[in-house]
Amino acid sequence: MSKVAVMGYGTVGSGVVEVLLNNREVIAKRAGEDIEIKYVLDLREFPGSPIENILTKEFNDIVNDPEIETVVETMGGLHPAYEFVKACLEAGKNACTSNKELVAKHGDELLKVAKEHNVNFLFEASVGGGIPIIRPMKSSLTADVIEEITGILNGTTNYILTKMRDNGSAFEDVLKEAQDLGYAERNPEADVEGYDACRKIAILTSLAYGKKVDFEEIYTEGITKITAEDFIYAKNLDATIKLVGTSHIVDGKVVAMVAPVLIRSDNPLYSVDDVFNAIYVRGNMLGDAMFYGKGAGKLPTASAVVSDVIETIKHKGINVMSGWSSDKQELLDFADSSRRFFVRVKESEGIVEKIMSVFGNIEPMDMGIAGECAFVTTEMSEKEFNEKKEQIPGIITRIRLSF
Ligand code: HSE
Repeated sequence: MSKVAVMGYGTVGSGVVEVLLNNREVIAKRAGEDIEIKYVLDLREFPGSPIENILTKEFNDIVNDPEIETVVETMGGLHPAYEFVKACLEAGKNACTSNKELVAKHGDELLKVAKEHNVNFLFEASVGGGIPIIRPMKSSLTADVIEEITGILNGTTNYILTKMRDNGSAFEDVLKEAQDLGYAERNPEADVEGYDACRKIAILTSLAYGKKVDFEEIYTEGITKITAEDFIYAKNLDATIKLVGTSHIVDGKVVAMVAPVLIRSDNPLYSVDDVFNAIYVRGNMLGDAMFYGKGAGKLPTASAVVSDVIETIKHKGINVMSGWSSDKQELLDFADSSRRFFVRVKESEGIVEKIMSVFGNIEPMDMGIAGECAFVTTEMSEKEFNEKKEQIPGIITRIRLSF
């Protein structure tokens, strides 16, 4: 019998309890022993719930109990999640978390503490919810040099962009509808501004290259400026618009960003719609691989957390997750990274000539939208594009191309 504690009985924490109780037999078979939830830590009361009698408000009950082998951290946020997880690892307990903020900010240190104490710090659910991606990257893609990781890493924004494309709706209208349906938070900033995806691509990139990527250094742009008209142009390019977190290697340096990009129909990420997530990985031997599934939600996320709990029980006293070191991963200056750009400009006297004289060789686009003109540039650096953009009056928008 292995005894565990769940810290935080919110959406994911209650899902973890549900998965452990509903799948108890099959989980016991796979873990090699039965799992008992001894404590649930939460400051709230849950009268009539299945955890009523194991609820505690005292973290010390858990960290000081030698019977607890593994803790699940589903509180979210950095504090006190960081202090609690670190104390549990130092007390010789394994920790499994769904908390991407915690992993992106303190993953290097917590991995080190786990190693020093011969326990495991696991975080499968922190990226892609229920999609197995952390363990495959750590255990299965080990023969390859990873050349690129590009993911649709946020379900909320993927849902919003899908509805904008399909219904021709405005961002604000779809956001409101998504909030009413419970797909988007009342405070949607972390999702729509790309901060959530930024932490996830930081984790994947750290894992791929073995050094800590500082998420604050990743260029991050959200979807709030995308409009229904942008999708009309996208369709004409045989493309759609997706918020991606992406990293790849240029001249030995990592280029990373989170931004809405135009993705053409021949890209496997093109068909990833609604709240689904997908992570495309290119290895130098493997070629292309894509991991697809539910990137959010109570039970898919809880399923990934419980898979980590099983992993800790199967590997008692063996540290299986090397993860990444505290050495800093150098990123290429984002201004030096190159791509093509789609640009919309307000129509004015002589504007086409001006665009051609500044940008040179362009692909003009005419979708019959009154009062504006649009074009696609050749490949150029962000710096060069920004310098040229400054010379064009009335820029409405610009979106990066992934092709
Ligand atoms: N808000 C996140 C999303 C939840 O929409 O994908 C999962 O991290």
